[in-house]
Amino acid sequence: MRYDDIGTGIPLLLIHGFPLDHGMWRPQVEALREECRCIIPDLHGLGASPLAEYPATMEGFALALKTLMDKLEIDQAVICGFSMGGYIALAFQELYPERVKGLVLCSTRSVADDGHAKLARATTAENALARGMAGLAPGMASVLLSAKTRKDHPELLAEVEEIIARQPSAGVAAASKGMALRPDRTDRLARIEVPVLILAGDADSLIPPAQSEAMAKHLSDGRLVVIPGGAHLVNMEQPTAFNTELVRFLARLN
Ligand code: MLT
Repeated sequence: MRYDDIGTGIPLLLIHGFPLDHGMWRPQVEALREECRCIIPDLHGLGASPLAEYPATMEGFALALKTLMDKLEIDQAVICGFSMGGYIALAFQELYPERVKGLVLCSTRSVADDGHAKLARATTAENALARGMAGLAPGMASVLLSAKTRKDHPELLAEVEEIIARQPSAGVAAASKGMALRPDRTDRLARIEVPVLILAGDADSLIPPAQSEAMAKHLSDGRLVVIPGGAHLVNMEQPTAFNTELVRFLARLN
């Protein structure tokens, strides 16, 4: 598994979303390298990490990340997952709670896919395999960012397109099919004993902030922040607000 290990201090495992890789965390690594130890993997089948299983289950990704923590001799980390990374973070928390110092759930949800979403996953996988990611990248990138971000920051749109275009089709198909298999983890939220920070963009149309509000209601120690001016990729669109919340959360855990 390819990963970056940058900075010192409290370990922060940054789990990217779909169909992305470690590159989506650029605005966090730049700001946080002085604050903590950032571990930033490419999940199996994405970025530069080889495909490990097909479909790529959230539990399989979680096991690979626990194995990476073992290799790096990290006992406990703050587990921060974006969107699909959030599904993996919830699976990780369920399987290896003793390895979690705190949980950050960004632009994500605890519910499973419904029948319609499962069918859409199969179509996404077929399209990735049939057409390749370069052709799909412009359409997929534009829904991750708000209309205002696309207009004011074309360089950000180009960066996201480039990240998507470089993903291997087989890995994208495997992750798409894996997401369709994930269970509803809403009932488990009440059993989480560590602090949880939930971050969402107010203009996210892919996973609306209502999903974050629904998760927050179940947590005994949860803080929800809805960030203005951000869509799905709120960490890239509003890095200052996003990083401020993350640093505050890390300071509390340290
Ligand atoms: C992601 O950003 O990881 C995806 O939008 C998650 C999903 O498709 O459910």
